[in-house]
Amino acid sequence: MRIITEPTEMQSIAESLRLQHQFIGVVMTMGALHEGHLSLVRLAKKKAGIVIMTVFVNPTQFGPDEDFERYPRPFEQDSALARSAGVDYLFAPSAEQMYPEGFSTSIDPGPMAGSFEGRLRPGHFNGVATVVVKLLGITRPHFAVFGEKDAQQVAVIRRVVADLNIGTVIEGAPIAREGDGLATSSRNIYLSFEERQQATALFRAIRHAQQETESGRNDLAAIAKEAESIVHAESAARTDYLCFVEEDTFEPAADAIPGKAYRLIMAVRLGSTRLIDNWKYVCGEDRGS
Ligand code: PAJ
Repeated sequence: MRIITEPTEMQSIAESLRLQHQFIGVVMTMGALHEGHLSLVRLAKKKAGIVIMTVFVNPTQFGPDEDFERYPRPFEQDSALARSAGVDYLFAPSAEQMYPEGFSTSIDPGPMAGSFEGRLRPGHFNGVATVVVKLLGITRPHFAVFGEKDAQQVAVIRRVVADLNIGTVIEGAPIAREGDGLATSSRNIYLSFEERQQATALFRAIRHAQQETESGRNDLAAIAKEAESIVHAESAARTDYLCFVEEDTFEPAADAIPGKAYRLIMAVRLGSTRLIDNWKYVCGEDRGS
C-alpha cells in the first residue's frame, strides 16, 4: 500500500492507472477506521482492480460547535487497518493541501441538503459535496462506495454526481452493525454502559417497522410514530427526527405506494452522543435492506 499526501501526485497516479485500463474504486473516510469503513473496502475490492482509500477530516463539513478539533486521528492504526484490508493507495492530504490560499468554491446540493441532517447541521452537506467532488477529481475512480449508514449523504452525493455529470458510479453499502443491531460508529465508544444498552432501541424501532410493513400495513406515518415511542421508552433518549421519507428525494412520506422505495430515518440523542440509523423499505418487496 502506498501512502500519498499530495493531491497532484495522487491525481497523476490515478490518471496513469486509468491509462493502464485499471478499474478504480474509492472509499472516502475521515479516518478512525472501524468495521463499517472496512466493510466498504471489502465491497470495493470485489469489483475494483485498484482500491484507493481517502482519509481526510474535512473541516468544511463541521459546524462551529462540532468536534472538528477533537475528531480522532489515529493515523498509524488507520494505515495498518487499510493495508491489511487490501487498500492499494491511501490518500491522506492535509487541510492546507486541500484548501490552499485562495480556495473559494462551494457546492450547494439544493433542497435535499437543507432537511434532517442538513437542517440540524447547516452547511454540512455543502462541505460534504465540495470535498467529495474534489476527492473524485483527485482519485478519478470508476466507482465510489458510500455507506448507507449515512443515507442522506448518499442521496445528496448521488444528486450532485448526476447533476454535474461526473460519471462516477455511486455504490451504497449495507449498514455494518454490532451483534445487538446497533450500527457501527466511531461515536459508540462515547456511550456509557447504560446508554449503550438503551441504544439498542434504534434497531428495535427498525425491527418494529420491518414487522409492521411485512404484515401488510402501508400507513408509514403511524408506523414511524410507534417506532418513535419504542425509542422514547428509554428515558435518556431524545429524537431529533424519526420518520419515513421517500428514498430519492428525502421528502417525508405518509402512506406507502407499491413499487416505491422509502427509508425510515432517525437521529437520536443519548446523553451527549448523537446516533443515526435508517432502514430502506421497498413497498411490495419481501424485505428491505
Ligand atoms: P466517515 O464518517 O469517516 O464515513 C466514511 C464512510 O463510511 C461513509 O460512506 C459512511 O457512510 C461509512 N460508514 C460509517 N459507518 C458505517 C457503518 N456502520 N456501516 C456502513 N458504512 C458506514 O462520511 C464521511 O466520513 C464523510 O462525510 C466523507 C464522505 C468522507 C466526506 O468527508
